[in-house]
Amino acid sequence: MSNWTPSSWKSRPAKQQVEYDDPAELADALARLSRLPPIVTSWEVEKLRKQLAEAGRGERFLLQGGDCSERFSDCRADLIDAKLKVLLMMSTVLVYGSGRPVVRVGRIAGQYAKPRSESTETINGLTLPVYRGDLVNRVDFTPSSRRPNPNNLLEAYSRSAMTINFIRSLLAGGWADVHHPEVWDLSRLGKNPQADEYHALVQHMRESVRFLDATLGRPLEELAQTEFYTSHEGLHLDYEQAATENPPLRTGWYDLSTHLPWIGERTRDLGGAHIEFFRGIANPIGVKVGPGMEPEELLELVRVLNPENEAGRLTLIVRMGAKKVTDRLPALVDRLKRSEQVVTWCCDPMHGNTYKTADGTKTRHFDDILAEVNSSFEVHASAGSVLGGVHFEMTGQNVTEVVGGSCGLTEADLATAYESDVDPRLNYAQSLELAFLVARQLKKRRG
Ligand code: PEP
Ligand code: CO
Repeated sequence: MSNWTPSSWKSRPAKQQVEYDDPAELADALARLSRLPPIVTSWEVEKLRKQLAEAGRGERFLLQGGDCSERFSDCRADLIDAKLKVLLMMSTVLVYGSGRPVVRVGRIAGQYAKPRSESTETINGLTLPVYRGDLVNRVDFTPSSRRPNPNNLLEAYSRSAMTINFIRSLLAGGWADVHHPEVWDLSRLGKNPQADEYHALVQHMRESVRFLDATLGRPLEELAQTEFYTSHEGLHLDYEQAATENPPLRTGWYDLSTHLPWIGERTRDLGGAHIEFFRGIANPIGVKVGPGMEPEELLELVRVLNPENEAGRLTLIVRMGAKKVTDRLPALVDRLKRSEQVVTWCCDPMHGNTYKTADGTKTRHFDDILAEVNSSFEVHASAGSVLGGVHFEMTGQNVTEVVGGSCGLTEADLATAYESDVDPRLNYAQSLELAFLVARQLKKRRG
């Protein structure tokens, strides 16, 4: 990797970075951070890369999902449990639909930094730094909360570690055991039309598991530990650098704050600091791709980020919006195909479909989300390419942030339980419903 070091990004213009008022305090926090043990290991990261390569070829399907932004206050057993449950339920539905294994990746255990369009916010004549996620400052509109605080970096790292620790314990302890899918809270599905379908699926699973146990002569769980990976937007480069190391017995540098860091749509410019940092780390990485991306620009980006053209290295998370995807995506797919560049294509049907209601509430319509997913499947099918996965903003709670779906949420309902400080998320029922609809597409295209 020519001329790359974990800090070489500092010689490039860095967007969305934070102005701290005390450089010594920041340096001290980063030094302390870099001495802490990693949150994930390079062994897990390498395993994920293989699975993403499989997803790119259509041998597996990627389900990536979670909050737009985690808050420190989300580091709670019940909330983590609920998020994990809905993701596992969705993946179960997708496995049955696709007949393929699913790689599960949460936007979790580190999704604490947000890109913003302005650097300050003014209310009643008072101007303060904008909220950039709990990694940087706090959302309350007071000078002390909005001050970028270097200690938040350590707090975020600790809470990420606690979150993944709890997830690992739940999974290792048999909580997601295929023998007991019925514990996954079916009661909360209520009258949702998917409830019957889910019950039938669970019954089918139970019988299959019994059959396999009997055939193997030992419980299936001994072979099938549920795997789960983490991801976050690698926005705050000082933070990512502090977590980057060259582990023993490895030649490369790994960002071990997460398995799959991604570059956001606002920081993916070719000459910028984020591309410089990401090109040198050994993790599989994601890049958001919006409707402004041109085919030649994408090709250059892919060559910079994946010069060896390795499968699984690069996941392109396309977020065009339902109205633009059929127009914009084919030329991108075609350009990479003609150059034989290997990528894993993923559809983020959330970020191109955000709009504001008359009273200024940020929302998305379930139908637009579904339409973007379906159009992406179509585009890839026509191009002889593969849609390898989906990327959702979602939660295990019954929030009211996205309109539509068979729960029938309208704009008038949004105020009932709108909790997100940033983007609107699919609620529990909407998430599961979408999983069924994606599974249907996968089944239809299974051949
Ligand atoms: C996000 O994933 O929350 C986000 C900010 O997305 P994008 O970079 O695609 O706008
Ligand atoms: Co978002």
